[in-house]
Amino acid sequence: MYIVHIASECAPVIKAGGLGDVVYGLSREVENRGHTVEIILPMYDCMRYDHIWGLHDAYKDLYVPWYDGAIHCSVYCGWVHGRLCFFIKPHSEDYFFDRGCYYGCNDDNMRFAFFSKAALEFLFISNKRPDIIHCHDWQTGLVPVMLYEMYKWHGMANQRVCFTVHNFKHQGIAGSEILKATGLNNEMYYYDYDRLRDNFNPFALNLMKGGIVYSNHVNTVSPHHAWEARYSEVSYGLGHTLELHHYKFDGILNGIDYNIWNPEIDTFIPHKYTIDKFAGKAQNRKALRDRLLLRDDDKPIVAFVGRLDGQKGVDLVHHAIYYSIHNNAQFVLLGSATEPSINKWFAHEKFFLNNHPDCHLELGFNEELAHLIYAGADIIVVPSVYEPCGLTQMIGLKYGTVPVVRGVGGLMDTVFDKDYDQHHSPDKRNGYVFYQNDNHALESGLERAISLWHYYPKEFEILQKQGMEYDYSWNNPGQQYVRLYDYLRHK
Ligand code: ADP
Ligand code: GLC
Repeated sequence: MYIVHIASECAPVIKAGGLGDVVYGLSREVENRGHTVEIILPMYDCMRYDHIWGLHDAYKDLYVPWYDGAIHCSVYCGWVHGRLCFFIKPHSEDYFFDRGCYYGCNDDNMRFAFFSKAALEFLFISNKRPDIIHCHDWQTGLVPVMLYEMYKWHGMANQRVCFTVHNFKHQGIAGSEILKATGLNNEMYYYDYDRLRDNFNPFALNLMKGGIVYSNHVNTVSPHHAWEARYSEVSYGLGHTLELHHYKFDGILNGIDYNIWNPEIDTFIPHKYTIDKFAGKAQNRKALRDRLLLRDDDKPIVAFVGRLDGQKGVDLVHHAIYYSIHNNAQFVLLGSATEPSINKWFAHEKFFLNNHPDCHLELGFNEELAHLIYAGADIIVVPSVYEPCGLTQMIGLKYGTVPVVRGVGGLMDTVFDKDYDQHHSPDKRNGYVFYQNDNHALESGLERAISLWHYYPKEFEILQKQGMEYDYSWNNPGQQYVRLYDYLRHK
């Protein structure tokens, strides 16, 4: 099969969070299963060019229809750690992707509507006819809409679209201008309530909703979150749309790429280790302490790695820091905040807490330090408000770092409470789960993990190793996606 991903991220060249990891890891897995995979991405000025091999302008003149004219683009082509990627670079409207950031601009809707249009135009002009176009999140929600409404008439009627929702919170709420710019029929704004119009705001369009309605298949990134999305508020108003389209909606759990996230071969960590040769774990703990100037003490290290965002439960993260350092543990945080108020809050905490011998906060994005933290910490805390899948708990498990998570979304599907899980025998349990979104609930999980480390170190090690035994690689999800692609292709 021939599969083309259209996405706004692909690790490590463009990575703001888990989406980048997933686009890369899934592509590699599907390719390893004998299929042809290509990835279309925007050419941002701030992406990691050092991770692209053989970058060259493969198509110099791509004219993308936009309003009443066309925008001149080049399509660059290069290999990102073995994956063939095409990067769209507009010339006349350079500013679309030359912003020094991936997201967070006022005109994000226009930027990614343009990207969606350009990606389709590129496929059309270069005569690429994939069996499957795999789109990700609201940024590419217009791809299936335009494919069906416009490109189908230009010899692209056989392309099937799989649309994966990684995060329902960001939906691309746009004005009718988008229709004019992309050339879509204006009637979609005035008369059509069930396809592109937002469910809350009758004067706005919802790009993610368009993606859901027009795709041949829609999935989110864990089975439990698929259930939550249909029946609770975590789909932010799209529950009704998902209900209407339930026959083509499901959840496929993400994997993680064990070629990158694996303590046996990880080049970022000083001491490699496995279940059988576990001594390296303690040596990495020592290396982490040395690097972050934590005192060498007989205490576990609790860690948080992730975006500092409302979704990640920042209040609980904050509480976890103080709870840990007051309860016989150390705390390490690596977090990136895009919202200025959260950034300011944690910068303030960092200013005071980094003098504390048991605590270190690091703000910003640091791939290499992230690896050392997964390897050196003993406990990883993931207290999310909602979590479509979550990769950090799965990475933690692979590195023998015991997860303490809130029981939502993909966290529910991957972490099984050592003391209370009803569905797994004690030798298959791998962490701690709490449910309420409050400090006491968090403490109940954290306290059990910290105590086990102090008072029952042998049992703690068994729990670490039980976690490492889980297979959360792309093997299973890769198989599921290939089966899905094959089914869609014959539909
Ligand atoms: P989300 O996609 O919601 O941000 P995930 O748990 O799915 O959360 O994925 C987060 C990914 O981003 C993981 O690979 C994690 O290691 C990485 N990550 C998040 N924040 C940082 C950071 N500040 N520095 C380095 N890596 C980070
Ligand atoms: C999103 C979600 C996260 C998920 C990631 C990759 O950013 O917040 O839970 O793991 O996408 O699918």
